[in-house]
Amino acid sequence: MTNVPNVKLNNGVEMPAEGFGVYRIEGFDNCKQAVKDALSVGYRAIDTAQQYNNEDAVGAAIEESDVDRKDVFITTKVWITEFGYDKTRASLEASMKNLRTDYIDLVLLHQPFGDSYDSYRALESLYDEGKIRAIGISNYNSDRYIDIQHFARIKPAVDQMETHVFFQQNEMQEYTKKYGTKLESWGPFANGKHDIFNNPVLNEIGEKHGKTASQVALRFLVQKDIIIIPKSTSIERMRENIDIWDFELTADDMRSIEALDTNESSFMDLHDPKIVEWIVNSVPEK
Ligand SMILES: NC(=O)c1ccc[n+]([C@@H]2O[C@H](COP(=O)([O-])OP(=O)(O)OC[C@H]3O[C@@H](n4cnc5c(N)ncnc54)[C@H](OP(=O)(O)O)[C@@H]3O)[C@@H](O)[C@H]2O)c1
Repeated sequence: MTNVPNVKLNNGVEMPAEGFGVYRIEGFDNCKQAVKDALSVGYRAIDTAQQYNNEDAVGAAIEESDVDRKDVFITTKVWITEFGYDKTRASLEASMKNLRTDYIDLVLLHQPFGDSYDSYRALESLYDEGKIRAIGISNYNSDRYIDIQHFARIKPAVDQMETHVFFQQNEMQEYTKKYGTKLESWGPFANGKHDIFNNPVLNEIGEKHGKTASQVALRFLVQKDIIIIPKSTSIERMRENIDIWDFELTADDMRSIEALDTNESSFMDLHDPKIVEWIVNSVPEK
């Protein structure tokens, strides 16, 4: 079984450098089985969110597994319908019930919109009370990130952003390093877009190292000091995706992969007003 190294967050808390994402794993039983499989092959961090509607399956899987709760690093995210001080606190009480735990390792604000500063203060209060071990944000581009980083009492430990070989987030890498926040990749395979698993550059580099394109894509991110949370419902691919800690890409390999960057989102540009309208309109109460 692969042992994943930890990274140290800005408050000294350690988090696995690779975890398992459960976005769009539909159905309680499917998700529970996927998390149990992931734990059985060595993943010790699970990334869920209130919006994924599967916190309860994650909680059940951990409870039924052979792994102690304290040995699993759980991340969840507060969705913007739950933004606001009291609502965020109440929503996280519900998340803890769903997850069958009395503390959460890392809580992220899912989007940088709405009453996010009040929500952030709610996270700080839960952190002070010991119910959250680390606080972070998600989808905060460099402009929003710099703002909250400067005004928050407890600085964000993590910013989880779309990051993969086709969107390498060089600017975010620079600013998160500058201010001591860990960049975490969502969609490390661009969710399969751009035919990533058959990419000739990744395949060619993989062949040299006896690895697959997917393993090269993940290894590139961890060598950039980016935390990864690949998702798969297949136990073979879970094994493949975690088997990346025994090889090293060379400087030449890294340069060849750097050239794949389009510097553009493959999903949604959070500076696009149409996207912002779509997100804020998902909140019925303003
Ligand atoms: N903060 C946010 O706004 C946000 C947004 C999106 C995602 N996330 C988080 O990031 C996690 C990962 O992102 P994602 O789930 O969108 O996409 P992803 O991990 O980039 O890609 C998952 C896709 O790749 C396939 N796959 C996985 N490993 C493979 C392999 N070795 N070979 C071939 N195919 C493979 C999976 O299919 P199979 O399942 O069939 O293997 C699935 O279709 C999510 O689960 C979630 O936790 C966060």
